Amino acid sequence: MIILGLNAFHGDAAAALVRDGVLIAAAEEERFRRIKHWAGFPSQAIAYCLCEAGVGLADIDHVAVNQDNRANLARRIGYLAAHPPAPKLLLERLRMRREREGIPRLLEAAFPSERFRGTFHPVEHHLAHLSSAFHVSPFEQAAVVSIDGFGDFASAAWGVGRGRQIDIEGRVHFPHSLGIFYQAITQYLGFPHYGDEYKVMGLAPYGTPAFAPAMQQIVRLKPDGGFALDLAYFRHHREPIAYQWTSGAPQFADLFSPALERLLGPRRRPDDPIEARHRDIAASAQATYEAAFFNLVRVLQKRSRLTDIALAGGCAMNSVANGKIRRETQFRRVYVQAAAGDAGGAIGAALTVWHRLGGARASTMDHADWGPQFGRDEIEAALAPHRTRLGEAGCTIEVPTDEQDLCRRVAAAIAGGQVIGWFQGRMEWGPRALGNRSILADPRRPDMKEILNTRIKRRESFRPFAPSVLEDAVGEWFEEDGAVPFMTQVFQIREDKRAKIPAVTHVDGSGRLQTVSSRTNPRFHRLITAFREMTGVPMLLNTSFNENEPIVCTPDQALDCFLRTEMDVLVMGDVIVLRPRRGVQ
Ligand SMILES: [Fe+2]
Repeated sequence: MIILGLNAFHGDAAAALVRDGVLIAAAEEERFRRIKHWAGFPSQAIAYCLCEAGVGLADIDHVAVNQDNRANLARRIGYLAAHPPAPKLLLERLRMRREREGIPRLLEAAFPSERFRGTFHPVEHHLAHLSSAFHVSPFEQAAVVSIDGFGDFASAAWGVGRGRQIDIEGRVHFPHSLGIFYQAITQYLGFPHYGDEYKVMGLAPYGTPAFAPAMQQIVRLKPDGGFALDLAYFRHHREPIAYQWTSGAPQFADLFSPALERLLGPRRRPDDPIEARHRDIAASAQATYEAAFFNLVRVLQKRSRLTDIALAGGCAMNSVANGKIRRETQFRRVYVQAAAGDAGGAIGAALTVWHRLGGARASTMDHADWGPQFGRDEIEAALAPHRTRLGEAGCTIEVPTDEQDLCRRVAAAIAGGQVIGWFQGRMEWGPRALGNRSILADPRRPDMKEILNTRIKRRESFRPFAPSVLEDAVGEWFEEDGAVPFMTQVFQIREDKRAKIPAVTHVDGSGRLQTVSSRTNPRFHRLITAFREMTGVPMLLNTSFNENEPIVCTPDQALDCFLRTEMDVLVMGDVIVLRPRRGVQ
């Protein structure tokens, strides 16, 4: 049975293909369209999934989308009766509804030579989120939590997963939302783009939560684990918020009202300097989020008495809060899959349908290698038109004798201070580069953060870089131990180790680590092992292979990014391209 799962007409549009309950392929549309967080109908991601599975549209038995207009219907009707929406808002909602219901038609339009003969299944947004975490987790039974902005009139859902079943025990409904709270503060702090919340999370450790008491009136905690916003500080419930979910980058107008500026002072505009007050507001927002998050997680743990938890939804990208779960609660194991945000709903929708139809659990996601891959021929073909230009620029192209030789040479280059574009195997699923489309550098160099920010990434200086660490060395270097294969948890680095790895140590001594296993990422593991043999440090600085764009997908894009920026070395598969300035030692 073949099921195509979709996150469509939503930020991070994505497709996933599941065959007999086993995930075959998954990718975000942004990687193909080259626009970050692309929202709309993910026709190129679908084309990739079909190609990877070797099937056509006519072979698809079921299509599942992570949105169901009938979900929480009584709540919707009750709310709309009490708060009639503006006509413009109503028309916009109806248009979006038609778009989602028209998905079978859009599939046929995207693949005009084939007929879609399968069945279309809408799946409630948060059920898809919960399924995307629990049904690929290693847990047979676990508490499950989904928190985001909004989906199907709810902003959070929680409960218990057992085998194929997920029982939702509680929800927070529109207009209350922790995701909206965090997004509104992100806008207020002068980060206007969809998905900028991680910048606030990165800024938070530079401040103190001086505004947390003030923010307590914005987010009120409930004894059942839920929360409520003081709506005086928001606009989304009473005004049509201009936003765009169709064919392009998602955009949102301001979600906060003038009352927020009266409470916290004037907003920061994007070009304004970041002052102490802004850092404190970021710290306070993170503290407020964590208070609500841990209230919910603790209540759920007490009620369920379970020790495993699986998280999803945009807020599950809050790796700082995730990393504190074991310290703050009785949960002992935490699972967050690679695409915890809305893209992940594509997997969750597909697996929900698979289990509804009686399918058994068939796969655990312990790696993120679900995207396109390119062979030696394709890499050579990408290089061919640039050989003259590369030669004129003094670049050389080499192919080491074997993998060990390649890893040793690259590790030596990193230890010598060079910056490496590392392009290997299948593109990662989810927002993090995990050793397949990565830029790698030496975590020991105090100046490396500055070098990367100015020479390659051109991004804000306060944002930290992440370490990819051999999984057997986590306990020795971090205060916590355990597998974090998708960079979804932040751990504290041991105090005596921090000075040894300044480029990946955040201002509060934390690191958003990726644990690297020889089983799931053998070449990356070999490379870090070679670096450890040379330096005694079992980790590399790992940042995504891009420059203010979606992470590169193809060898062409990798080469283009290499040529545009000041990377020293590009490794694509077995091929090494060296810039002359420094060369591999
Ligand atoms: Fe969501």
